[in-house]
Amino acid sequence: MPDSFDQTLAHQIDQYIEQLFSQPDAALVQGLQDAQADGLPSINVSANEGKLLYLIAQMCGAKRILEIGTLGGFSGTWFARALPADGKLITLEVDPKHAQIARKNFDRAGVGNKTEIRIGHALDTLKAMVEHGEGPFDLFFIDADKDAYVEYLNLCVQLSHPGSVILADNLIRNGRVLQANSTEVKVLGAQAYNNALAAHPHLDSLILPIIRDYLDGLSISIVKREA
Ligand code: SAH
Ligand code: DHB
Ligand code: MG
Repeated sequence: MPDSFDQTLAHQIDQYIEQLFSQPDAALVQGLQDAQADGLPSINVSANEGKLLYLIAQMCGAKRILEIGTLGGFSGTWFARALPADGKLITLEVDPKHAQIARKNFDRAGVGNKTEIRIGHALDTLKAMVEHGEGPFDLFFIDADKDAYVEYLNLCVQLSHPGSVILADNLIRNGRVLQANSTEVKVLGAQAYNNALAAHPHLDSLILPIIRDYLDGLSISIVKREA
């Protein structure tokens, strides 16, 4: 297993970029502090990844965004801030306590009227959305339980239009996805997702390495415009 990744240098580079481009404002910082004080895990995207989500949403001209995995609303706030006045973020969360904290954080960040949190297991919520014809969405962000990522992908494709962008977090897992014989559920979920993307007939994809306390990766897929 290669382990020559220089975490100190990578961290310094991440900090350098964050100071120049991605500094969270007071509402985002307070939201993270409150979430931590309420016992939520610190597994939100980094500031730089949040800024990347914000930029991608604008590049897509996204008006309707669907997020799977709300937590305290950190990534959701970056997305919502990229939306036009009549845009909407729907974000799915299984834990009502997380949803409650996210609601408070969205309101404080000034995006309360652009955000809707749906509580429930995301597989159930997504299936209901497909049944009710709630698509299409312009942009998706998959960031919940890793073992269900492939199922989430298939449901997101059903809620997409040609040109929709599908993002998914945590697909490199400090290089553990390179291990052929892993038994770790999150690694197996990421490997299955990465292989599904690579083989998908209707998606063009890449995984972008992301610096955290370890090396991770964000996938970017576009739903092909030709049939
Ligand atoms: N996107 C957030 C982080 C999400 S962490 C951010 O970057 O700020 C993953 C979240 O997914 C947690 O809040 C967890 O409760 C939620 N989750 C886990 N399994 C889920 C499921 N089956 N359905 C919906 N949400 C789920
Ligand atoms: C975990 C989940 C995430 O979405 C993330 O970005 C980092 C860690 C986790 O479950 O440990
Ligand atoms: Mg994540």
